[in-house]
Amino acid sequence: MSSEDLKKKLLLAATEAREQAYAPYSGGFKVGAAVLTEEGEIFSGCNVENASFGATMCAERVAVFKAISEGHHKIQAVVVVTESPNVVPPCGMCLQVISEFGDDADVIIANTVGDVTLCNMKDLLPRAFKFEPRNR
Ligand code: THU
Repeated sequence: MSSEDLKKKLLLAATEAREQAYAPYSGGFKVGAAVLTEEGEIFSGCNVENASFGATMCAERVAVFKAISEGHHKIQAVVVVTESPNVVPPCGMCLQVISEFGDDADVIIANTVGDVTLCNMKDLLPRAFKFEPRNR
């Protein structure tokens, strides 16, 4: 499959997942995400909000956690689709989670009218936190 076809497949998966978003508290700000694992598998996710706002989960982390829970620990690419006029990157917490499994992953940010921007984790979170416990 060409990388263009793969990109289309990821965009479609994220766009379809976005339809499942549960976003009553943000006025319907629906987000869809898809991650591509090292093995070439795709996992998608949507944002899931909660009446206790802090319990809301972003679409990107749903997709990453689905991949991890299925045994995939290396992420090659992440696609995020929102309805915003400008494409928006993952929030800081999602960047930190993505970096754990894909610190060099491509991040494709898109909106529902077809704007698509390619970024990389190295640009979005250049100095990601890594846990390096000191020797005791
Ligand atoms: N949201 C995401 O799904 N991903 C992000 O990276 C940023 C924000 C969701 C969370 C919430 O449901 C809504 O967008 C507004 O913040």
